[in-house]
Amino acid sequence: MRMLDLIEKKKEKRELSNEEIKFIVNGFTKGDIPDYQMAAFLMAVRFTGMTENEILNLTLAMRDSGDVLDLSRMVGLKVDKHSSGGVGDKTTILLAPLVASCGMPVAKMSGRGLGHTGGTIDKLESFPGFMTALPEDMFFDNVEKHGIAVAGQTANLAPADKKMYALRDATATVDSIPLIASSIMSKKLAAGADAIVLDVKVGDGAFMKDLKSATDLATEMVTIGRNAGKQVTAVLTQMDQPLGNAVGNILEVKEAIASLKGKGPDDLMEVVFALGSRMLLLGKKVNSLKEGEEMLKDAISSGRAFDKFKEFVEAQKGDSSYAEHPENFPEAAIVEDVYLEDEGYISAIKAEKIGHACMVLGGGRAEKDDVIDLTVGCVMKKKVGSFIKKDDAVLTLYANDREKMEQAKAEVISAFTVTDEVKKPLEMILGEV
Ligand code: URA
Repeated sequence: MRMLDLIEKKKEKRELSNEEIKFIVNGFTKGDIPDYQMAAFLMAVRFTGMTENEILNLTLAMRDSGDVLDLSRMVGLKVDKHSSGGVGDKTTILLAPLVASCGMPVAKMSGRGLGHTGGTIDKLESFPGFMTALPEDMFFDNVEKHGIAVAGQTANLAPADKKMYALRDATATVDSIPLIASSIMSKKLAAGADAIVLDVKVGDGAFMKDLKSATDLATEMVTIGRNAGKQVTAVLTQMDQPLGNAVGNILEVKEAIASLKGKGPDDLMEVVFALGSRMLLLGKKVNSLKEGEEMLKDAISSGRAFDKFKEFVEAQKGDSSYAEHPENFPEAAIVEDVYLEDEGYISAIKAEKIGHACMVLGGGRAEKDDVIDLTVGCVMKKKVGSFIKKDDAVLTLYANDREKMEQAKAEVISAFTVTDEVKKPLEMILGEV
């Protein structure tokens, strides 16, 4: 087989066989296929697409390029959750202990990632001592003893995807639904769960800016999962403004703690209950979404969810006293409220700009080895639909550098649109596949 012929075949939109796809993925991962040929292949996929069979075979080849976790030694159905990423998205920090406190085991691999803030793993490391590089035995023991473990993705989880993603990033071939869907699902399938709930974000602060492309991506991922023998559901959720109020690592952890104590913002809790009830339903803990939602609400009001969170932090060697006393987390040196010149109803808040402002403050990574500042970010005081007067602060910024603070302030101010017309709060759940 020659890579040149396979690029030619894809260019002509002919279907590649499973053997051909394996040849490409394995050859590229081992270094036998050079970047320039792989880049040409990825661009051909970007323009001609892939059939359902090709997408499944690509996903499975990427899954099998590294370790595939075997969770079968643990009893019961294992349900995973994945978010396509958004601004202020702290749902995993809340959902993992919440669902575990309902008796459903959570064995989750999470990422650090590039972006406006760190990933779940960075956020959890806000707890001094918290271990995210868990040895395999500890990962399984914790799930058995405590019903929960959240670990950083091992280097050998879908290594083909890591290498391909880096090349896509440098060759303008990220924006291809077959490539995004197979990339995400290869890692999910390698993480070994029986069922997966996908949170596909839609809007300004998301990968997918409109409902049509988000629905196409969700449909593709659900199809891959089902063809691979897993139960998969995708929920399309709002990302036209930050989710919840906090954006920034420690700030988001604090909001997650407050939410587990029953003081979560409505928009965040709506998404958490939508995802959590589907996890409980797929895990056969409940017979309906309504029952699932009631179970989750009860876990919060009874204090079980918060207790499970502390148990989880301790089981991963973190200092859980911070959960009881979040005021002890370090705080940024400069804390300032931001005001707008206008008066009226907030009709839009560009999530992407708010996220970018947090990145400017140092809360996210542009390159994979960047060190992030866990203390910086912002807390929204007003959201879409709020009426504001001139002396109402719209958000609070947390910074450690005056110059960066001024730059972030200008950016967040430009994120808001204010009108005279009454504007309703945004709908959070936009669809389901
Ligand atoms: N996230 C991924 O893991 N892969 C993609 O291709 C895009 C987003």
